[in-house]
Amino acid sequence: MPTGATGMGDPDEVVKGSAADTALAATANGAAPTGPDAAGAVILDVRGVDFGYSQVQVLFDVSLRVAPGEVLALLGTNGAGKSTLLRVISGLGRPSRGRVVFRGRDITDVAPEARVTLGIVQVAGGRGVFPSLPVRDNLIAGGFLLRHDQRELRRRIDEVLSLFPVLAQRIGQPAATLSGGERQMLALAMGLLLDPSVLLLDELSLGLAPVVVAELMAVVAGLKGRGVTMIVVEQSVNVALSMADRAIFLEKGEVRFEGRADDLLERDDLVRAVFLGQNGN
Ligand SMILES: Nc1ncnc2c1ncn2[C@@H]1O[C@H](COP(=O)(O)OP(=O)(O)OP(=O)(O)O)[C@@H](O)[C@H]1O
Ligand SMILES: [Mg+2]
Repeated sequence: MPTGATGMGDPDEVVKGSAADTALAATANGAAPTGPDAAGAVILDVRGVDFGYSQVQVLFDVSLRVAPGEVLALLGTNGAGKSTLLRVISGLGRPSRGRVVFRGRDITDVAPEARVTLGIVQVAGGRGVFPSLPVRDNLIAGGFLLRHDQRELRRRIDEVLSLFPVLAQRIGQPAATLSGGERQMLALAMGLLLDPSVLLLDELSLGLAPVVVAELMAVVAGLKGRGVTMIVVEQSVNVALSMADRAIFLEKGEVRFEGRADDLLERDDLVRAVFLGQNGN
């Protein structure tokens, strides 16, 4: 959870080639579809990324492209590198090879806080809230980028509270007293305050009762309706695919499948790998 904004400068490097060129380029594995919409627009373009922690490489030549307004499910077995890939996109991890391009600009070297300013927001899940602080103060902390415009901050807080009425009821309670689902809602609300154009959601439904998952999914559907682009990592293939237009399947840090969400369901081998991985835990 970022608590301060530094290095807010805009990236100025413009990547060679238009978004349409990007859309027409072949994918890493040559598989169609590639994600860009009919007009060929690409909002986020991850190109040939390698990433490792210390000496251990965990992402291998990972590429993906997301069209504006698209919801991409990022699936894979435990430890496949899903969270790591989100970190590379949000700037918390710097790839040793490859580029991250946002709206045609190379942002590989742009600090995470500056990426938030550009509209790339990662929701850290229930772990991203401050347990000892009341809901209200969590929201104020989440809206750190708006701290110089209190009126706008209050307006946005009211807006997100209207999405999550239960948080409005709990506004003075410490986050520690919230249920797991309410904590996830608070984390999501904190992310939404920043008015993201690309939202990265890491296991929003983890450990939640189906009724709460349904509530969160309704919010996600509403965001999609408003044109927010999303990458969703989910343990539950069904939850992910019910939200997503397209899916990427990662295995051991490599893209094994990229295509329409419906088509992934036909790939028994991959879907089973996720279920087996879960059951094995
Ligand atoms: N901070 C870290 N330092 C060292 N290794 C890490 C770190 N974070 C993750 N790893 C390792 O990198 C690999 C990919 O981890 P990552 O968390 O990205 O996988 P994941 O697909 O999100 O898994 P999960 O489904 O369990 O959340 C794993 O082998 C993991 O052990
Ligand atoms: Mg993970």
